[in-house]
Amino acid sequence: MFKRLEQHWRVNSVNLALIITTFALGGSACGFSARKLLIWLQLEKGVVWWLLYLLLVFLLWPICVTLISIPLGQFGFFKRYINRIWNRVSGKKKTRVAIFASGAGSNAQEIINYFYLSGTVNISLIVCNKPGAGVISIANKEKIPCLMIKKEDFLNPQQFIKQLSEHKIDFLVLAGFLWKIPEALIKIYPGKIVNIHPALLPKYGGPGMYGHFVHEAVIANHEKESGISIHFVDEQYDHGKLIFQAICPVNSAETPQTLAQKIHELEHKHYPEELEKIITSGK
Ligand code: GRF
Repeated sequence: MFKRLEQHWRVNSVNLALIITTFALGGSACGFSARKLLIWLQLEKGVVWWLLYLLLVFLLWPICVTLISIPLGQFGFFKRYINRIWNRVSGKKKTRVAIFASGAGSNAQEIINYFYLSGTVNISLIVCNKPGAGVISIANKEKIPCLMIKKEDFLNPQQFIKQLSEHKIDFLVLAGFLWKIPEALIKIYPGKIVNIHPALLPKYGGPGMYGHFVHEAVIANHEKESGISIHFVDEQYDHGKLIFQAICPVNSAETPQTLAQKIHELEHKHYPEELEKIITSGK
């Protein structure tokens, strides 16, 4: 049962234990405070008392759970959970996101996990240009439609744009996608295409600067730091307005592989959160 919940909520066993503890403590705290409030109001115990008690519990529950989730480090989970309930109740439309990826898809997986419980964002499509790429299996496993594209359709993208609109896509996220985004697509999604680059732009960006080439160049130049850059996409490679950067040290024994691992950790930690901020702020 616990394994199922872990899978369902996309959390590890430690987080699951902390989430259950938060629920339990939150439940007790709101029950206790509602009772205290009613005693303070000096009401006779009867139907009205019970109705008020239930109402108070209902109102206090999300507040208590959210407060307790902060010291237990589960605030993000509960924020998304409550957000989802709120959006369902208020009937707010979710932003439909397409992830463009052509590699292993570890970033795509993190983004899918992060937005799994989201009430604001729905990962609706994976776009891939590389047959056999790891991200295709991720799309299948997650039951997210996967659109394979060919270079000629991408360069003359009217048909492709139509397919995106058939999937009602509002926002594009690039996560390890190497082709330059055509102008026609940028015009249709102004300020709604975001990329992640595995270095500190404006250095180590541009044509040919991808994957291990970036890390090799960083090490060859004896840089003391590298990191990640999240930016809006414009007509040039790795050029659009910067949104966020995070740094990691590059030490003297660093290899492209060890650096790639550090960079991936930074990407997984920050990319989903930054995407949420960008998408929900509607910037
Ligand atoms: C990431 O390092 C990203 O910055 C770069 O390509 C890599 C993709 O990795 N653009 P993955 O396929 O998400 O594992």
